[in-house]
Amino acid sequence: MIGVFDSGLGGLSVVREVVRLDPTAHILYLGDRAWAPYGERSLDELRIRCESITRHLLDHGADTVAIACNTASAAALTHLRRVHPDVLFVGMEPAVKPAAQLTRSGVVGVLATPATFQGELFASVVDRFADGIEVLPTPCPGWVRLIEEPSDDPAATVAETLAPLLERGADVLVLACTHFPFLRSQIAAAAPGVHIVDPGEAVARQILRTAAPDARSGVRVQVTGPGTGLESRIGDLTGLAVSVESVTFEHRVT
Ligand code: DGL
Repeated sequence: MIGVFDSGLGGLSVVREVVRLDPTAHILYLGDRAWAPYGERSLDELRIRCESITRHLLDHGADTVAIACNTASAAALTHLRRVHPDVLFVGMEPAVKPAAQLTRSGVVGVLATPATFQGELFASVVDRFADGIEVLPTPCPGWVRLIEEPSDDPAATVAETLAPLLERGADVLVLACTHFPFLRSQIAAAAPGVHIVDPGEAVARQILRTAAPDARSGVRVQVTGPGTGLESRIGDLTGLAVSVESVTFEHRVT
C-alpha cells in the first residue's frame, strides 16, 4: 500500500494524478488538517510531526511513503530516510529545473509556502538548476486556506499575489506547493501566456515506479481534525469519490 500525506487536502492533487495513471492504485492518504497550514510552522516541529505521521502510515500497512507536500519534504525527507532506511520514500522538490529550461525571459516565479523557502532543498535546487536565471521565491499568503476552506473569490487573492511577478517579467511559474494545482485555473487567468509547471504527474509516476505490487486497490482518506463535509469538497477538487475518516495519533519520535 502507498501511504501519502500532506498538511490537508493539497496532496490529493498528487493522488489524483496517481489514480489517473493507475486506477487500481491502493492508497492510504493522511491529511493533517489539525496542523495545517504547515507553511507557517518551523522546520523542526514539522520534522517531528512528519515522523509521527510516517509511523501511523507504516502501522497501517504502507510499504512506500509519499510526502505529497513540498513543505514537509523540505523539513523531513532526509531525516525520514535516515530513520527508516527500509522504507521507500518519495518527496516533492520545487520544479526549478524544467522551469529554467522553459523560460525565455530568464525570470521564473516559484510559488510555495514560507517554510519551503527556508529549507536547504530550495537553496539546493536553485544552485543546481538555475544558473543565469532569476528565481523569484514567492510565499503565497492565504492560498492554502483557499483550498482547505472554500472561499468566495480565490481569483482576487491569486491575482494580487502574482501581479508583482508579472511586472518583473516572470514567464514561468512553478507550483511548489501541492495545494496550488487546485488553483490552476485562477493562476492561468491571472497570468495569461505564462507557463505553469506542476510536477504532480512526474511525482505520481515516480510513486508508481517505487510502490510494491499490491493486489488490493482503492483510495482511503483519513484526516486529523473534523472530517465533516470533506467528501464533497474532495469530490469537487479531485473528482474522486472517497469516504473520509477522522483520526488522532500521538507524537511518536525515535
Ligand atoms: N501542500 C503543502 C506544500 O506542498 C503545504 C501546505 C501548508 O502550508 O500546509 O507545501
